[in-house]
Amino acid sequence: MSMFQNGSPVVDLQSPNMGFMSWLRFECQVDCDSYPHACINEDLYQTSANAMVEQGYLEAGYNLVAVDDCWMQPGDNSRDPISHQLVADPQRFPHGMKALGDYLHERGLQFGLYLDVGTITCANYTGSYGYEHLDVDTFAEWGVDYLKLDACNLRQKKILPSFIEFGTAIQELAHQKMMFSCCAPVYLGHNETLKVKQQHLYDILYHEAGCNTWRNFHFVDNSWPGLKRVILHWADYWQDLQSIPHGFNDADMLLAGDDVPSLLPPVQAQLQMGFWAMISSPLFIGADVRSIPPVYRKVLLNRHVIAVNQDVSQQRQASCVLGCKGSNYKNTTNSGSLDVQVWAKLVRHGQSVVLGFFNLNEQHQESSISYEFELERGRGIAQCVDLWNGNSGSSKVEELPDICAKGRGQISRHWNIQIQRESNNIKRLHIQTLGVLPTSHRMLRVDFFDTLQPPHPPNQGRTRDKEPKAQ
Ligand code: GLA
Repeated sequence: MSMFQNGSPVVDLQSPNMGFMSWLRFECQVDCDSYPHACINEDLYQTSANAMVEQGYLEAGYNLVAVDDCWMQPGDNSRDPISHQLVADPQRFPHGMKALGDYLHERGLQFGLYLDVGTITCANYTGSYGYEHLDVDTFAEWGVDYLKLDACNLRQKKILPSFIEFGTAIQELAHQKMMFSCCAPVYLGHNETLKVKQQHLYDILYHEAGCNTWRNFHFVDNSWPGLKRVILHWADYWQDLQSIPHGFNDADMLLAGDDVPSLLPPVQAQLQMGFWAMISSPLFIGADVRSIPPVYRKVLLNRHVIAVNQDVSQQRQASCVLGCKGSNYKNTTNSGSLDVQVWAKLVRHGQSVVLGFFNLNEQHQESSISYEFELERGRGIAQCVDLWNGNSGSSKVEELPDICAKGRGQISRHWNIQIQRESNNIKRLHIQTLGVLPTSHRMLRVDFFDTLQPPHPPNQGRTRDKEPKAQ
């Protein structure tokens, strides 16, 4: 939109951020005497950084360590009396924040740090109100690459002007390019239609404040109901959220592998990872990255699913094709979103389509729904890859129903999916949800080729699967 062109982001973020963020698991635990290995201190971030390098997370693309709230010295000493710069808690961060940033950079990781635009942060630490430029300059001195800016404790009217103030400070930095993660939308209501169409909120955040990503909705509680609430919000407002042409919608942290207060079953952790991949939300590991059990580690490191998340070559976010408010579902009169949903995202410059099937219901689902979609003409060969279990097969498009239906493995076998060719360029996707497991999902990528020998074999290396990151 030409009316907002003052200050686009300084970092041209090509794909959603990936990393580790400490809030979900460690929140504001500052009692390091009782919890020496699980409190907000430099040891936590250093050992987490080591684990990210050693356990393959960095290699898979998780290249950011984000320190959340509660890093500051509390009370009256939170700012230096002369310079007014923020001061990190000297007991918990004895070497200071610049040293922590150096430690991360030496290991090929980016440094994320938290501030709040209000008078105090959400967890009652010192806010940045009135110190916007000074705090951004301080972050630049410390080598911060990613600013997570929250919006607790400020009158609603002042929130957007404050984000613009911060954005201006970031744009004025001479030597440091800082990514800008903006929590403003969470505090401005939950009607995404109003935010997009009436308030032009995301145009302002992108073009005036220079935000790269924004948290649209509530904090994702570490529970199945909490996760379901976020997914249903996306299903209700997917058209509005999908219409945002720039930046990335951030649906909050991944729950996989966290054990406080309860461990989400692997199948639900997988469902979240798959959904976040479809909507191109940043992927922030919220668990203790040093000790994620192998079954969850496998979920977080699935290169096929990560590639879907990072691929914005054709579509920035998936479309909901069945089961969402306003989507083309046929067997219900319900005006809201359904528990059984199908989402589709064109990837690889339109050469492939990824289909995500989600059953949010705690019960088995039995129904039959159909959806039609158009594919390019003249692509006679198809291969169907099950993104979670790696099964794949290729054949002539006419035989596609068979190869896509052949998915094996615990989760996938309970979705019976058929794709039928009806004319030269129309395929009818017929989804039989008979006996679908409770809270289960499946992800298929269907690749189309002109020749009999597919150019991308199913077990190709990560570098060919994944688009390079921009920063
Ligand atoms: C808010 C945010 C969380 C976290 C906390 C910190 O609740 O949504 O992500 O940053 O504040 O206090």
